[in-house]
Amino acid sequence: MKIYVTEDYQAMSRKAANILSAQIILKPTSVVGLATGSTPVGMYKQLVTWYEKGDLDFTAVKSVNLDEYVGLDPTHEQSYHHFMQTHLFDHVNINPANTNIPDSLAADPKAECEWYNQVIRQLGGIDIQVLGMGHNGHIGFNEPGDAFELETHVVNLTERTIQANSRFFSSPDDVPRQAMTMGIKSIMMARKILLMVSGEDKADAVMRAFTGPVTPQLPASILQLHPYVTLVGDKAALSKLMETK
Ligand code: F6R
Repeated sequence: MKIYVTEDYQAMSRKAANILSAQIILKPTSVVGLATGSTPVGMYKQLVTWYEKGDLDFTAVKSVNLDEYVGLDPTHEQSYHHFMQTHLFDHVNINPANTNIPDSLAADPKAECEWYNQVIRQLGGIDIQVLGMGHNGHIGFNEPGDAFELETHVVNLTERTIQANSRFFSSPDDVPRQAMTMGIKSIMMARKILLMVSGEDKADAVMRAFTGPVTPQLPASILQLHPYVTLVGDKAALSKLMETK
């Protein structure tokens, strides 16, 4: 695993954007796995800046997002469709037909997940998967205790994740209770992983994920077994991990 420790959030965002743009420049037809949440916002902003400068071209890029809430209208401010439009897709020349996110309004979310697995296969797999990480070590919406062998599937969100995400909704009651997420197996099949972490509040989870046992109780710990992980974090998030090195 390659680890980049950066001074702060901004530097983490720039480093992650460097890595993702190198991928796109070296392979313009890359299939990029994208994440939402607060962590990658600065990275997307940096990518947009480089696109506007003429340094990046998304014409042939294909994207697959990690996850989406069940039942939230794609135009809802908190839907991951809306997030991707606002932070990246609306600002770069990616072909909308080349972007993929599970359909939050699918009548049958389980069938939607099956279809999503087919989409990833037909694209030839994911070249690089961007990940953030929850305080409980979740990646995507793979919560502690979820089976490692799953591909895209429907999950019930834990109370902790509902509480954590409620900051984006008017009240915890408005947070959807289910989501569709790529499973650990889908994530592990990506050729490269780019894990981004920021903030002291993540330091404990990061340290446990990379120094403790590989266990479904801490989903990110599975990344210890992936052959090509790049961890980019600010020094606050990596403080405890680096103490062990
Ligand atoms: C987002 C996702 C989640 C987040 C995680 C961290 O697509 O799948 O696993 O990466 O919840 O969220 P933030 O970045 O808001 O701390």
